[in-house]
Amino acid sequence: MTTIKDALTQQGCDASLIDVIQRILSASKDISFRLQQGALAGVLGSTEDENVQGETQKKLDVISNDLLKDALKQSPYVHGIASEEEDFAVPGNDGGQYLVTYDPLDGSSNIDINVSVGTIFSIMNTTGNSDLGEDFLQAGSNQVAAGYVLYGPSSILVITTGQGVSMWTLDHTIGEYVLTNAKVQIPEQTKEFAINMSNQRFWAEPVQNYVADLLAGEEGPIGKRFNMRWVAAMVAEVHRILTRGGIFMYPWDSREPNKPGKLRLMYEGNPMAFLVEQAGGLCCTDKERMLDVQPTEIHQRVPVFLGSKEEVERAASYHNS
Ligand code: AHG
Ligand code: MN
Ligand code: MN
Ligand code: MN
Repeated sequence: MTTIKDALTQQGCDASLIDVIQRILSASKDISFRLQQGALAGVLGSTEDENVQGETQKKLDVISNDLLKDALKQSPYVHGIASEEEDFAVPGNDGGQYLVTYDPLDGSSNIDINVSVGTIFSIMNTTGNSDLGEDFLQAGSNQVAAGYVLYGPSSILVITTGQGVSMWTLDHTIGEYVLTNAKVQIPEQTKEFAINMSNQRFWAEPVQNYVADLLAGEEGPIGKRFNMRWVAAMVAEVHRILTRGGIFMYPWDSREPNKPGKLRLMYEGNPMAFLVEQAGGLCCTDKERMLDVQPTEIHQRVPVFLGSKEEVERAASYHNS
């Protein structure tokens, strides 16, 4: 049986990077177990607190964040951590080489209704900048590894170190991720889109026009009948797209005109962009390739368009015309 360690070694990862990834995976197994226990473990529901994004934290947002933080801070190879649930960058070890960003629990509004959620992570090298917050402000093209764990009917790890994308299913009987797809490839064309349609009246004109043409079906300019899905967890949407194609969009909208979007660049946009590109798809903002965006702050938000190549190119063309 191929182990994660074997696969990462074959991809040329050194022992320190493998250690960091394995810490993330062991925390993910713990998160998976607590999610399965649900109400039995008393972990459902919300806390009294808000995170730096202005969202009420679920109990499991906080528990998952702490599990990942504790696992990573103990690694001699982790220089610092940035998380959706932490106001500021958290120092690790001075001698550590890696910066880790993560969304400990993505789609957390799904927790209390027993629907899929996930953990997203991204790993970069430190630049040596003595200001840890600034050290993190690197374009996504600098990522050395990224991935997510989808907690659905199965818990599934999807990971890249820049040499394609592999999928691993958690075998609870042995407590290990087992390789179930060695080479994930996104179909270039699709007839499925994902966007929160309830925000339609708030979108900018290019998105209004593109989605109107998707909805026009065979008679419209695209000439295809599209289906729509919305799980409200980016991990689950990206997993569907990696499995059978599609386009996922979370565009800028005028509900919060001064924010460029809802999703966060460093622990949602960039890791998903790395995975999607490595699987033959595309990921961009409304202006540029996601992995080229130069971040200005850790919690920066971005518009996101990702998925099957032909459809993301089409969505981008509505912004360029
Ligand atoms: P998080 O739970 O980490 O804050 O992320 C939620 C995000 C993303 O996963 C999902 O695509 C989107 O929010 C759902 O947004 P809506 O509330 O508009 O459905
Ligand atoms: Mn959140
Ligand atoms: Mn999220
Ligand atoms: Mn989250």
